Parts: sequence; C-alpha cells; structure tokens
Amino acid sequence: MHVSPILAAQSTYPFVRLERAKREAVEVGIEIVDFGQGDPREPTDPAIRQALVDGLRERMGYPKAEGLPELRVAIARWLERRYGVRVDPDREVIPTLGSKEAIFSFAQVVLDADGTKDAVVVTEPGYPVQERGALFARAHVWKLPLREERGFLPDLDALDDEAWSRIAIFWVNYPNNPTGAVAPLVFYERLAALAAEHDFLVASDEAYSELWFDEPPSSALQVADRDRVVVFNSLSKRSSMTGYRSGFVAGPAEVISALKEFRPTVGTAPQEFVQRAAIAAWNDEAHVGRAREAYRRKREIVLGAFERRGWRLAEGSRATMYLWLEVPGGESSEACAERLLRHGVVVAPGAYLGEAGEGYVRVALVPTEEECLRAAAILEEVL
Ligand SMILES: Cc1ncc(COP(=O)(O)O)c(C=O)c1O
Repeated sequence: MHVSPILAAQSTYPFVRLERAKREAVEVGIEIVDFGQGDPREPTDPAIRQALVDGLRERMGYPKAEGLPELRVAIARWLERRYGVRVDPDREVIPTLGSKEAIFSFAQVVLDADGTKDAVVVTEPGYPVQERGALFARAHVWKLPLREERGFLPDLDALDDEAWSRIAIFWVNYPNNPTGAVAPLVFYERLAALAAEHDFLVASDEAYSELWFDEPPSSALQVADRDRVVVFNSLSKRSSMTGYRSGFVAGPAEVISALKEFRPTVGTAPQEFVQRAAIAAWNDEAHVGRAREAYRRKREIVLGAFERRGWRLAEGSRATMYLWLEVPGGESSEACAERLLRHGVVVAPGAYLGEAGEGYVRVALVPTEEECLRAAAILEEVL
C-alpha cells in the first residue's frame, strides 16, 4: 500500500510512545496517576450538557460551515467582554471543530508553496500540529526555540529580512503549551508590526487563554493593527469540552472568507447541537472561574511536592494546566519520566515536545485532586 510520503516521514506522535510505556506499567501492576496528556477531566458544566441535549432534534440536516449566527454572536460578545475587542460576527468569526483541525489545515488555506512566501514559523517545544499541518501544505517549516532566559518567547531578531520576506504564517501559542509562559501585549504588537512590514499572517493559538492564576493573559487580537492577526481559540480547555469539539477562528474578513470557502469541502462544519452547547459555554463565566480554582488547588498540591524536594518551576511558567519543571541533576527528561513512571507518576518528557524542551518535564494537572494528593505523597518519597 502507498501512503503519503509526508505521512510516512512523520515520526510517531510522541505521546503514542508515552501511551505504550503507560500500558506496560499497568500490565505489571503499577497503579498510575496520569499527568501526561492535557485532556481535562473536570466535568462539563450541567447547563452546557443540557444545551446539547436540548439542541437535538428528530432530524438534523447538514450543518453549514459558517456556523449558527447565534454562536458567532456569542463568540463576538465573549471577545468583547474578555478583551474589549469588537469583531464582526458575520465577517470575522467562524466556528470550528475544536481548534486542532483548523490549526492543521490553516497552511493549506493561505499558503502557496510554489510562490515566494513558502515558509511557516513555529516555536518549539510546542504542540506539534502547527508544524505537521504546514508540512502537509508543503511549506518550509522553521522552528524557533523557546528558552527560559527569553521568557519562552521566540527571538524575533534571529531572522533577517530575506527570511521575513518568505514567511506566510508565524505561529505563536500563549499561554504556552508546554512552558506555561504568557506573552505580553508588546510582544504581539511587535509581531503584528513585522507582519505588516513583511506581509505575513500572525496565527495565534490561544487554546489556554482562560487557564490563568494571576491575571488574565492578553490576546493577539488586542494589537492596534490586527489586519494580519488570526486567533484560534477553543472550549476544550476553558470549559472542559475536549470531546465536544468546539472552537473558533477570529481574524480578518479575507481570511474568514477563505475559510468559508475551504471548510465545506473538507466536511468540517460543526454539529448544530454542539454549537448550541457552545453558545451556553461562551455565555457563562462562572463555570470557568470554578475550573480555574480547581486547577489552582491541584497546582498547589503537586508543585508543592516537587518544590519541597528541591525541584524548580521554570521562570515564567504561570498559566495553562501545565507545570514546566526543570529536571535536576542533568538527568535526561525521558529517563526522568521513565523513573517516575516506575513509581506510578506519569509526566511528559520535555524532549517529546521539541529539542529545546530537553531538561524539563511537563506535568498536566488533569488528575483529580485526590489523585494529585496521592501523587504528591509518592513524589515526596521518590524524588
Ligand atoms: C497548544 C494547543 N493548541 C490547540 C490544541 C487543540 O485543542 P482542541 O482541538 O481540543 O481545541 C491543544 C490541545 O491540546 C493545544 O495544546
């Protein structure tokens, strides 16, 4: 059988390796607490679940790619409440199936691999989907490392004019998976100014915008000139709705119009009953505040255990559901994760998320508070 050479060239999605190691641990009788993958296990708010049930009719026809007008309005109102930014719900917003598919296919929609703007910038360590989507669109992918000494922001001075001129999309992700870093508005301002100067799109993946502990992070949409800024957000983390698959893209009318053309062909119009649940979710902040409190408690429990054993949280790791912890003593991140797994605590090796992630592990605060307490007791013994 033949498969796409781009698919064949991809290494195993790193978490598949983690899953395998976990299965082996369970088979030999180890009881595990899983801080590996970022799939929230907080219950979805009952009012959101009810809205989904109420949205189910005897017959549901094909949903339209542009989504329900009520949902686009709910998203636009949320953007205004949250960031003070006004977007046109008809021309500047489109609902998506979570944000992963939209992130993956974005390069296919806006990049001409045979033209002069054939490069996509991503940051690493990071979520691998931006890069994989760009590769399927035949882009050249340039990876900029995120380093602790730079606050986990990419070095925008590392590129020369020739490089800038080739960029079609510059991906950023703040609050950042995996480092937990947050980008200040001045960073987005500088990137948007470079985008205007060199004519590229800033694609800002803001899936973790609502999981913060001190102050609400900024959005790239808040820059003064947002003509080239495209934001991807999702209910997956904000409202613990990973299984629903609901998110949105907000950006310039031209980009949204291209997405409206592309998406019906690909079959990515969101199910109407999910959109009804999404309206309920964007219209309510109380459940989001409760989720933040739950993460805050779990953060204190788990981070406390690591810190008491002399581990260090990376400087600037202050939002998302992740802790980005430095592995002490020069042990590799994979060896460290294997060692913790033998004691029943699953963490993600930083190196799985990119070269610059070596030397760190990522702890996703998704287990229950009770499990976190159990893990903390284990950690205090084995670290
Ligand atoms: C950085 C980042 N962006 C986007 C997503 C996509 O999430 P979803 O497709 O559920 O919205 C994830 C999921 O883990 C993520 O970590």
